[in-house]
Amino acid sequence: MSTLQNDTFLKALMRQPTDYTPVWMMRQAGRYLPEYRQSRKNAGSFLQLCKNADFATEVTMQPLDRYPLLDAAILFSDILTVPDAMGLGLYFEEGEGPKFERTLQLEADIKKLAVPDMSKLQYVFDAVSQIRKTLNGRLPLIGFTGSPWTLATYMVEGKGKTDFLTIKKMAYARPDLLHHILDTTAQTVIQYLNAQIAAGAQAVMIFDSWGGALSHDAYKEFSLNYMQKIVNGLTKTNDGRVVPSVVFTKGGGLWLEAQAAIGADALGLDWTVDIGSARQRVGAQVALQGNLDPAILLSTPEAIEKEVVKVLQSYGHGHGHVFNLGHGITQLTPPENAAAMLDAVRTHSRQYHQ
Ligand code: CP3
Repeated sequence: MSTLQNDTFLKALMRQPTDYTPVWMMRQAGRYLPEYRQSRKNAGSFLQLCKNADFATEVTMQPLDRYPLLDAAILFSDILTVPDAMGLGLYFEEGEGPKFERTLQLEADIKKLAVPDMSKLQYVFDAVSQIRKTLNGRLPLIGFTGSPWTLATYMVEGKGKTDFLTIKKMAYARPDLLHHILDTTAQTVIQYLNAQIAAGAQAVMIFDSWGGALSHDAYKEFSLNYMQKIVNGLTKTNDGRVVPSVVFTKGGGLWLEAQAAIGADALGLDWTVDIGSARQRVGAQVALQGNLDPAILLSTPEAIEKEVVKVLQSYGHGHGHVFNLGHGITQLTPPENAAAMLDAVRTHSRQYHQ
């Protein structure tokens, strides 16, 4: 087992005692940091940052070097590397978000979908290994994936920020076709996460960014079921340590009890739920990660401190909380406001761990 200098984050995910509440920020390496914008310029594009292990390592380390109070590193990559490897042709248009050259709408195309050879994603595993070497035990490294449902929304619709009508129509008119997409994607994701773990990822997170768009029953059938399959298929220990898993459905606050039952170690919470009542609802089954509204980081250090205290107070005494934002940090965040949040978490959380 390699030595880890700070295992606060891993312990909190497993609801073990820690001295303070560990913290990291979703999208902590990103456009709000001037050093990230410079690296992206040097690399030529966002995808070049992801596909080159030197660049991916460089940008993963940027928030850690700037903010000594972070308790975890997250692999710099994107959830859409998976549909790209499945042959859909990912590209980014300046200011427009991700798009795909091909979509999965015709039955013939859908039936051809298959689990890709993991060598197509070797660049991700190379980045994981290189980041682990560079971290040299300083902090644990999080690997990640999109959920099958969230990845399918991009594969069927061809882009993000949609009304999801094409994929929802498929869910109700041809559930067999959607289940084929989801099942193939789930099998791919199991191999993908296990390869990240083999390369050195010490915890894994499943981002179900669009699960909240589904109706109550459809969420279980088309999203949660497949996340359960993934959790069941994950490598549970590596290098002598447990590899904890986090499941995060944005907009999924109504279904926390069901999420807590799939066997993941922790649940991510967006900002729409009160973390204290979420804790009561899930009991001792899972740790919780969240849930400050990222928009709060646009305000002032004083307002940020007040809101951080509210989240810590609501969670209350005891272990099993990883502080985070309720979604990714926005590109408009002044970097010093992120520092104010991290300071407030460290200063005010110790009292809850005595
Ligand atoms: O947290 C981290 O620092 C790790 C890196 C990370 C990125 N994307 C980098 C990125 C992670 C964990 C993701 C996950 C991701 N990607 C999700 C799930 C989380 C969420 O936000 O709900 C989703 C839905 C995507 C798909 C995606 N990638 C979108 C919708 C966009 C465009 C929106 C945007 O913020 O620009 C991306 C691009 C992207 N992924 C950027 C970064 C840093 C910005 C690219 C740039 O530099 O222009």
